This record gives sequence, structure tokens and C-alpha cells, in this order.
Amino acid sequence: LGLLRRVEGYLGEFLSQKSRRKEGLPDASFSRSNSSGSIATDEGLFEQPESLASSKVVMEKILWRRSLQLRDKQQAWQESPEGRKMLELRRSLPAYKEKDALLTAISRNQVVIISGETGCGKTTQIPQFILESEIEAVRGAVCSIICTQPRRISAMSVSERVASERGENLGESVGYKVRLEGMKGRDTRLLFCTTGILLRRLLVDRNLKGVTHVIVDEIHERGMNEDFLLIVLKDLLPRRPELRLILMSATLDSELFSSYFGRAQIIHVPGFTYPVRTHFLEDVLEITGCRLTPYNQIDDYGQEKMWKMSKQAPRKRKSQIASVVEDALKAADFNGYGPQTQESLACWNPDCIGFNLIEYLLCNICESERPGAILVFMTGWDDINSLKEKLHANPLLGDSSRVLLLACHGSMASSEQRLIFDEPEDGVRKIVLATNIAETSITINDVVFVLDCGKAKETSYDALNNTPCLLPSWISKVSAQQRRGRAGRVQPGECYHLYPRCVYDAFAEYQLPEILRTPLQSLCLQIKSLNLGSISEFLSRALQSPELLAVQNAIEYLKIIGALDENENLTVLGRYLTMLPVEPKLGKMLLVGAIFNCLDPVLTIVSGLSVRDPFLTPFDKKDLAEAAKSQFSRDYSDHLALVRAYEGWKVAERDFAGYDYCWKNFLSAQSMKAIDSLRKEFFSLLRDTDLVDANTTTHNAWSYDEHLIRAVICYGLYPGICSVVHNEKSFSLKTMEDGQVLLYSNSVNAREPKIPYPWLVFNEKIKVNSVFLRDSTAVSDSMLLLFGGSFSKGAVVSISFLVFADCVVFFIWDCRSGHTALLCC
Ligand code: CDP
Ligand code: MG
Repeated sequence: LGLLRRVEGYLGEFLSQKSRRKEGLPDASFSRSNSSGSIATDEGLFEQPESLASSKVVMEKILWRRSLQLRDKQQAWQESPEGRKMLELRRSLPAYKEKDALLTAISRNQVVIISGETGCGKTTQIPQFILESEIEAVRGAVCSIICTQPRRISAMSVSERVASERGENLGESVGYKVRLEGMKGRDTRLLFCTTGILLRRLLVDRNLKGVTHVIVDEIHERGMNEDFLLIVLKDLLPRRPELRLILMSATLDSELFSSYFGRAQIIHVPGFTYPVRTHFLEDVLEITGCRLTPYNQIDDYGQEKMWKMSKQAPRKRKSQIASVVEDALKAADFNGYGPQTQESLACWNPDCIGFNLIEYLLCNICESERPGAILVFMTGWDDINSLKEKLHANPLLGDSSRVLLLACHGSMASSEQRLIFDEPEDGVRKIVLATNIAETSITINDVVFVLDCGKAKETSYDALNNTPCLLPSWISKVSAQQRRGRAGRVQPGECYHLYPRCVYDAFAEYQLPEILRTPLQSLCLQIKSLNLGSISEFLSRALQSPELLAVQNAIEYLKIIGALDENENLTVLGRYLTMLPVEPKLGKMLLVGAIFNCLDPVLTIVSGLSVRDPFLTPFDKKDLAEAAKSQFSRDYSDHLALVRAYEGWKVAERDFAGYDYCWKNFLSAQSMKAIDSLRKEFFSLLRDTDLVDANTTTHNAWSYDEHLIRAVICYGLYPGICSVVHNEKSFSLKTMEDGQVLLYSNSVNAREPKIPYPWLVFNEKIKVNSVFLRDSTAVSDSMLLLFGGSFSKGAVVSISFLVFADCVVFFIWDCRSGHTALLCC
């Protein structure tokens, strides 16, 4: 063991030398060109211009003059015809009526909690009220307001909206910053950013110097980053008594947040929405001319039928209705009848989404209902894609002169995103297929009809088996109400819940916070990098603390990969990992890719794993898509297939044929572009860590030794490893914790009859019904030996090696069998 540790120390030593050379660790700042062509730096975006001044008096004069200019500009806009019109519009929002009360509360209290109906004007108005009151008080040039959003799409769309409400371009007094993109100018005083960006800022500036107001929006969503930020801010408040913290939430759970901040003042903004008529599955089916009634009987096939149609479907359009009814019955039967429990709701059958039912309802609304956009809440990106394809094939819904069919999800490109807010031409009906992102973060104004499938994809975490799960699960009552509310923004609306009322009655009141349902490795690393002391002690101060076992698993993982030492202190590797905004395993790959001079393909792999899977598998073309992916595979690796796909795209893109290439190969052009930008971002971050030569303009020397890349992947993904057990015709896979595991069908390895390697390293394992592995690469014994991490009780193999003169002796110990193998090179 002692020897092993010595050898393991190599990487740490290497990194230490690098960092010593740089005299102290480099900070996380970096500069790069953003997509709009202007230069942005992470620090620069928050930079306080006053720090540039040498004399305090001169500085004060400059600030005073600039504040006056800001005030004059604001007054001029408000007196212009467009400005007056816009002000009129803003005044009609419920938040405006509370303006004075809100500003008084904010000036008198360090922490204020604001709750209000979605659409009442919290996000667009409250940060603006603060900015305007500061400008009026001639403090415009000294204030600095940061408003965090849980998603990049909302940070971007809200900042654009606020800038236009102020008659400005983005980047003047209002800006935004999200990963890869940002827009901020010298006079930007209100910055919308993602929560992750503010956390990164805290890494280099623990006291948020110069910031006057922090607004944390959408706290009711209870995202992990937001919960984490709240603990950090709670600690910061006593150190910065003049800092104001404003928490904004859509729903009514404000008491919880108030008591967390020592009974902070709560202000409720009463909202206004038009009445929304609610239809549950039973009512929806009446449109088809059928009636769904409870019915308890065993059918001819021995299946329990719980619902039946008491009225025959009308003869007319019978075949169409038959499939709709079948969908509905499937859904209803699955959902059952009578009192539901959380357990019975948990057994999900993905067939029950009822695409036919949705198609039928959409046609029905388009043909016979009043004008107004339709918003359809789906489970996730895959469903949206499949449904979109199905609807495109429909003669009415696929006719672009009558229907504008759009998708809305979290990682949408900004150009695509704008379309959902645009009003369509007269006579064209807008249909938006959305994930739960359209529930609270995004307001599409003209929605009159909402279809709610009742589920959302949610990650959960099984701490006992240390396995993340991704299951479409039932939403909470609060979410269902939010979805319904989306229909009544501009006129009375209709909401169709595609599940029976009894299912709704059994929904949980609120959703479980993310911190309680996801693995905590990245969070633990962040806690350490911010020097926040003991991980478990810190997390015990959270709004709701995660399970001890989940925390221990995360710490153990970080120790296994060498990011924490025995005493839970950050190692040199750990410190480097905190500078890279990716999961620790991907960060490790980048670092070792840089060390071994094979960064180019590694950049592609890490970028590819950080974006939505670029390999698309459309619902009805699954086989074709999988065959297309396997063209890129020659070596039992999804990761290397990705590298080849990207390289092909890059060549095609040079001839302006990128889209064609993606279309032919079932690749997402959007993901390819995102990979391209992320590669640049990661490269510039690595340059700042001093592991890549600062003068290098190309991405490291090109060294595409396939075995080396495979080994680097192994280094990053260890201990995500399973053994390949060959039997006569095929093979099976086993991990220590889960026993038999399966590959996702779109993995290139799933199409192989045999894998001539003993191990597969994988990126992710997810429990759906069985445990599935996503993105795997086959590795040999020697790769595992040299790059497979360290001694660990939980790992399949442990390795130690001794060096005798010019001979290396490896000991391999299989934890399952206890067998030891000896190998000399
Ligand atoms: O944050 P909250 O849900 O309370 O509302 P908001 O996002 O501030 O939106 C207030 C109003 O601004 C909405 O009702 C929309 O009418 C309008 N809005 C818009 O037109 N375009 C946007 N991109 C955002 C908001
Ligand atoms: Mg909002």
C-alpha cells in the first residue's frame, strides 16, 4: 500500500510543481471571446470600475457624475412616447402596486422574501425597482445588483425583456452572464446570471465586494445550486451588513425560507389570473363522445381492467377515436381507480403518455376552439422530439400555414428560444411543446390552452446503492397548479390534465428538493474549494440536510478519485478540479489529457458529455439511428465514436455542409455547435491552470493514439467500471454494487456480439427498471492497471505495483474472488 501511494503521488507531484511554478494557485478568471464577439471576463462582468481610480475624491466625483447621467437618461426614457407606453404596461402588473412596500422592506431589512403568482412581475420588475430607486437617489453608479436564475434560458430572456422595458440595448444598464455567453458593459448595474455563475464568483471573491443587492429568484424550485447558495449567503450576511438579500418564490412555501433567515419579512404580491377551466382525463374523454367510468373486472386476458367506456364511440371517425380511447384507457387503467398512494404512483409505464390522445386534443382545439396558443407539458426532451415528429405528420398540425409547432426546453439555443415568445401571424395557431421549464421560469404570454401530461423527468438518488436514477415521475400538486395557471394569463383559459382526478388527489404537495435527490460529489468539492470547513457540518446547515449516507458516499468517491485526502482536505488534483466547471470525473480527464498531450480528442469527449447527447434516436427510426452511430465505432467505445462524429462534422462544417452531415448521421447540430464552443471554453480554462502552454493557439499537440485516449477515459471514469463476462453467444456485464447491469440500446457496445476486452468503463449508471449504463468504453487490464485509480474497498480490482530496476511488477487483486494475478513488464 505504501508503495502504491508513492506511485499515486506522481500526478499530485506533477500538478504541485506546475502550480508552484505559477506561484500560488491560479484563480478561476479567464478571458475569451463570447459569441457576440465582445470580450468578456468572469471577473470583468462583475468588475467595479471604481477600483481603477487612484484617488478617492476623483473617484467620488466620477461616480456622482455618472449617477446623474444615469438619472437623466432614465427620466428622458420615461418621458418619451415609447417609454410612457412601456411604463403603462409595467404599471398594470401586480408587482407594481407593491413597489413602495417592497422598496421600504428592502431598505429596512437585510433579507426579504417575496412571493407571488407566476407572471405578477417579480423577475422583470423587482430588480428594476431596486435599480430605479438607486438611480433616483443618485447612487446609480455605485449600485450593483445580481439576480440569479436557475436556468440560462431565463437569465437571457429576462435580461433582454428588462433592457427593452428600459428602452436600452442589452449590455447597457442591464446585462446577463451564463456559461459561454455574456453581455455586459461598463455601466451595467443589474446583472442576470445563472446561480452557477454567482457560485463561481464566490470562489474568487468570498465577500462579493462591491455587490449591493443579491436577488435569488425561483427559490421554490429548490435546485441544488440555490440551496447551496443560500447556506453560503447566510454565512456572508453578518460579514456584509449593508448587503441586501432578496429571495423570490412563486409559491406559498415562504415560511420555510423566512424561518431559515431568522424570521425574515415576507411580502406577498397578490396576483391576477383569469379563471381557468380544469378538465381531468374523465372530462377530456367526453370530447371524444365516450364516457370513462370506473369498472373493476378481470378481462379475457386475465388483466385487471379498472376503467371502461360506458358509451360507445360514435361511428363517425371511429378509427381515429379508437386509438385515442385506447391511449386513454391504457393511461386510466395504469393509473388505477380509487385512492392512490405515492407507491402506486411510482410504478410508471412510459407507454401511458398518450400521444394519440394529445394529437386528438390538439386537432380538436385547432379546429373548434377560440384563438390562443397551446402549451403542452411533456416529460422531457425525448418525448418532445417524438411527439413533434408525430404531429408534423398530421395533415392539420403539420401544416405550417395553420400551425406553428415549437419546442421549449432548458438547453435551447437563444435564437430558437426567441421564437416561443413571438406572436404568430393571424390565423396561425402556436403550439409549444415544453418541459417543466415553462411552469414558472418562462412566461409565454398568449397561452390559452394547457395540456398537462402530469409527469416530469426527475433525477433521484438511491444512496443505499449509490446509484442515480432518472425516472419520469408524477409532478406535485403545486406544479400541476402552476401548469394550469399558465392558461389564464391573457384571457380565461382551459387546462386539460391527462390523468384522472384521483391521481391528482394523490400527488405530493411539493417536490423533493434537489439536494435530497442527487449525488453530491460536485457540491462537496465546491464546499471544499470555498473553504467552508467540514462537508457534513456545512451541509447540516442546509434548509433541508441531505442524508448522511449520501454525503459519505460523495466524500468516499472524492477520496477514491484522489480529489480529497484521508482528512477530507482538497488535494492538488482536487483544487485543479474545482477550477473546471464540470463533474470531477470529466475534470480529471481534461487534466490528464493535457498532461499526456492528447487534449484534442479529450476536449471533444468532455464537451460531448457535458451537453445533450449529440446522437439522436428518434422514436420511429431507432434502428437507423443506432446503425448510423455504429459507423463511427470501430473500437468498442461510445466516447471514441463521439470523437469521430465530431471530426466528421468539423470537416463538413468547413464546406458549409454541417446540417446535412448531422441530418444524415442522426446527430444534433445544436449539440455539435455546443461541443465546439465548449471545447474552446475548456481549452482556455486549462490554459489558465498552466497545464497547457499559454502561447499555444492550437489545441495541444495532436496525438491520437487510440490506446492512450482509452486509458485517459479510464482514468477519468474510474471507479465507474464493470466487468465483461463472456458466455457462449454473447456477454453480460456486472458491477460490484448492482450485479448484472445493461447497456442503453444506443451504446455502440450494445450492438456488439462480443467485446474483446475484460472491462468497460462507463460515464453514468442509471436505475430505471434495471441498472443501465450510458456511454461506455472497453478497456484492457493494463489500462485499468495503470490508469484505474487507486486502492479501494469498493472497486472491482485493486492494483499495486513495484518497480525493480527496469522491470515493473503489477499485483492485481480481484475483490470478488480474492484472486491475485502477477504481471511483469
Ligand atoms: O417573475 P414572474 O413570474 O412574477 O413574472 P415576470 O417574469 O416578471 O413577468 C411579468 C410579465 O412580463 C409577464 O406577465 C409578461 O407579460 C411579461 N414578460 C414578457 O412579456 N416577456 C418576457 N420575456 C418576460 C415577461
Ligand atoms: Mg419569475
